[in-house]
Amino acid sequence: MAVVVGIPTSADPAERRTPIVPDVVKKLRAAGAEVVVQRGATDGAFLDEGSLGEVSWVDSTDDVLAAADVVWVVGPPTDAALATLRPGTVLMGLLAPYASADRARLLCDRQITAFAMELLPRISRAQSMDVLSSQGAAAGYQCALMAAARAPKFFPMLTYAAGTIRPSRVLVIGAGVAGLQAIATAKRLGAIVEAYDVRPDTREQIESLGAKFVDTGVSAAGSGGYARELTEPELAAQAEKLGKAVANCDVLITTAAVPGKKAPLIITEAMVAGMKPGAVVVDMAAETGGNVAGTVAGKEVRVGPAHVVGPVNLPSRMPVHTSEMLAKNLFNFLAPMLDEGLLKLDWDDEVVAGTALAHAGEVRHPVVKQVLGL
Ligand code: NAI
Repeated sequence: MAVVVGIPTSADPAERRTPIVPDVVKKLRAAGAEVVVQRGATDGAFLDEGSLGEVSWVDSTDDVLAAADVVWVVGPPTDAALATLRPGTVLMGLLAPYASADRARLLCDRQITAFAMELLPRISRAQSMDVLSSQGAAAGYQCALMAAARAPKFFPMLTYAAGTIRPSRVLVIGAGVAGLQAIATAKRLGAIVEAYDVRPDTREQIESLGAKFVDTGVSAAGSGGYARELTEPELAAQAEKLGKAVANCDVLITTAAVPGKKAPLIITEAMVAGMKPGAVVVDMAAETGGNVAGTVAGKEVRVGPAHVVGPVNLPSRMPVHTSEMLAKNLFNFLAPMLDEGLLKLDWDDEVVAGTALAHAGEVRHPVVKQVLGL
């Protein structure tokens, strides 16, 4: 029996992305798999029944879950949906692995094999599967556009009949996937861009995009290409050095994150108070607590002189391309597990083992176990 990949509608009614697109339907079919999609699951990405290709359409989530061996999701399913998954089902998608110990327990109780794409090891071989990177790049791009649309100034230098307008100064904090894309986008819009990250490797990447690296003397490379949390003295040293750059910028975009931890609070209330009148802040880490004092997730608020935006689910704002990227990432993750239409999981493969949140009744990932206290 061929593997059936199932796509239910998203648990979040505001989500516009879908994990399936026509190209990926073709690839799945060529790999011997079948595809079952719930009606409505692809509407947000402007894909209708005529455009998706050779798939079976069903009316309810229950119908998808009853048929599927592998379930692809954009975000975590509801607990009610998880409770109806057949034991042995393989679940793949962004599962917010650090968010809920109860959900992790439920996955174990139901004997679900859950792959949380957030846990994918960031190694070269897995780049084409990296959902956080593809979605983060889209979010970073959106951040720069949001900032430009809210700024009371031009981003580029502008010469007009009565003189010259100076370009805006944009400061980006956190130069991971999203930060680098925000830098590139702000540069393309003509701003003068400065950026900062605690990982020393990022200096070269920041400079290669034509931005200036802000050197605070604080360096905190962690494992797996990620940063580690800063100590209190390091945070104080960072705040002192960054203060000047924050006070000088017109736009501040923050994207600093450490996996499994609350977002580091980098920009204090005093630093925001010292910003220029009309300054715009886009705090992309709003959902995980914010890098900026005063950020409210999902809201735009005035904090002292600044307009502070706390955007949530930015990738969902450009669902055509983010769905395409997500679906291709998921296919690239699943494809090596397909053998003539059958599913074979190789637990000796570090990509398979490292991405597993739960398997055979156990939470597999050591960091998730520790963070959730399991
Ligand atoms: P990433 O892990 O690639 O980059 C985070 C960067 O922050 C790393 O380069 C790291 O070295 C740096 N960092 C950590 N601590 C720092 C500190 N104290 N000071 C300066 N830099 C520091 O993550 P990615 O994909 O770029 O995402 C960034 C953030 O955006 C995350 O919080 C993520 O949850 C969030 N996000 C939000 C979205 C939204 O819609 N609001 C969408 C996608 C991501």
